[in-house]
Amino acid sequence: TMLPRCAFSVCHVFVLVLCLSSAEDIDWTKNDHSSFYYGTFPAGFSWGAGSSAYQTEGAWDKDGKGLSIWDVFSHKKGKIQQNDTGDSSCEGYHKVKDDVSLMKELKLNHYRFSISWPRLIPTGIKSDHINEKGIQYYDGLIDQLLESKITPVVTLYHWDLPQVLQEKYGGWQNISLVNHFNEFANLCFERFGNRVKYWMTFNNPWSVAVEGYETGEHAPGLRLRGTGAYRAAHHIIKAHAKVWHTYDTQWRAKQKGLVGISLSGDWGEPVDMSNQKDIEAAERYVQFYLGWFATPIFHGDYPQVMKDFIGRKSVQQGLGTSRLPTFSTQEKSYIKGTCDFLGIGHFTTRYITQKNNPSGRSSSSSYFTDRDLAELVDPRWPDPGSEWLYSVPWGFRRLLNFVKIQYGNPMIYVTENGVSEKMLCTELCDDWRIQYYKDYINEMLKAIKDGVNVKGYTAWSLLDKFEWDEGYSERFGLYYVDFRNKNKPRYPKASVQFYKRVISSNGFPNQREVENWRRKAIETCSSSNQLLAADPLTSHMEMVTEIVVPTVCTLSILLSAVFLMFLLRRRN
Ligand code: BGC
Repeated sequence: TMLPRCAFSVCHVFVLVLCLSSAEDIDWTKNDHSSFYYGTFPAGFSWGAGSSAYQTEGAWDKDGKGLSIWDVFSHKKGKIQQNDTGDSSCEGYHKVKDDVSLMKELKLNHYRFSISWPRLIPTGIKSDHINEKGIQYYDGLIDQLLESKITPVVTLYHWDLPQVLQEKYGGWQNISLVNHFNEFANLCFERFGNRVKYWMTFNNPWSVAVEGYETGEHAPGLRLRGTGAYRAAHHIIKAHAKVWHTYDTQWRAKQKGLVGISLSGDWGEPVDMSNQKDIEAAERYVQFYLGWFATPIFHGDYPQVMKDFIGRKSVQQGLGTSRLPTFSTQEKSYIKGTCDFLGIGHFTTRYITQKNNPSGRSSSSSYFTDRDLAELVDPRWPDPGSEWLYSVPWGFRRLLNFVKIQYGNPMIYVTENGVSEKMLCTELCDDWRIQYYKDYINEMLKAIKDGVNVKGYTAWSLLDKFEWDEGYSERFGLYYVDFRNKNKPRYPKASVQFYKRVISSNGFPNQREVENWRRKAIETCSSSNQLLAADPLTSHMEMVTEIVVPTVCTLSILLSAVFLMFLLRRRN
């Protein structure tokens, strides 16, 4: 992990330098939308929080679960920060009751979680074996949510592909996954669809494609530059469409639910608004990100700009066909319109400027160079946790308006939005997270006033959890999880108190009240801080016992051996 880290910092410095050097010709203040909008959300607006299976469940090998690509990837040395794994994570598998009570404390309307495919179907192939214990686990979770009047919102694929499908077929590089995924989805509709009415096929397929098959930072860790991501995405889009049709024809009439997809997208803002090249580059950034998936699903085919750029570069590289696969006419009409609602995951924004990348040989091609642009950040944007995550609330409103205009004002659920802090931070008074939520939620409210059809919001995430290649080094939770303690106790951060008020008021009533919430939240968290501060002692004691037990064992074995030898000698 050392190398990519360093590489990243160099990159980072480069971005900052780029930023600073161009700072004179940019009017940064043009986006300083400091006005806060006091008001409430439409009646029935749904407030939630989210998680995903591999990031929180733990129990990686319990009760007949099969291996996922993330189990295998995280067990390889050097892939994850500190070689962390999701083996036990938050122990969510064993803590359903506790976690549902946290959701009740927040008064959530919905909870978003994902189903682990290999927990239900260990090899990924339905005809091989169905693991009833896995089904029971999700049955229990769904029932407890419903008993607590919390609507389950379920993601079918949050990245944990059954390892067997990776080994046998090459994972999402292979078209056969479309059918296997469809069978898995069908099983979920059959077993859970009487109670689950909100389904999402995929979570953030951009990451699956780019980080799983192009850069290799994520499982399965492949580096098929210039082709791997496009091919994976192609199959994912087909799999999504197939599952939507399965629901539409076989289950919708009976179960009356909705099937969507959760797409992620940063916003891209032109560096120089008066420069047409920058405006086009920024548009390209968003089309290569969100549009890559949303355009086929809403309009039947990839964004024209992706077809143009990748096609042209492929020709220049001497390839006979474009590295971007094509859909047949039949496929286009099959894929078009397969979305009852659009899930949006959004965290941050970039400034974008045009930058030509010479086409070179096809071996040097990549998704990133295909876009012909450079990403920049304003060094003044707050970035409390993850290196890539700058707080730029106004970008959220722009992205939501983009979705409205481009895809015909679809029904939107925000499926992920939130901010992290560093692992070593044990500060529960997360004032910066309160600020982030306050401003981002406010920009979403403004977007609704603009006419964007947002029906719900999901804070990401309920708990601190395994953050993929970053391991536990970044904390996104409303609740702090003490990972050093075997019991993985949860502690509320100040943001819990704040988000709770936003939910109970369905928005922001007036300045005086909102400032009061914030003050009270910070007051309460100092007592939680003391609780957490008292904890390391107990967890330390547990660790010591763990070491002592084997030591005592070993000692007694040694002693008995010595004693035996002594006896034997005396006999001789
Ligand atoms: C992923 C989450 C992850 C978050 C922060 C999102 O795109 O879907 O699983 O926790 O990014 O890294």
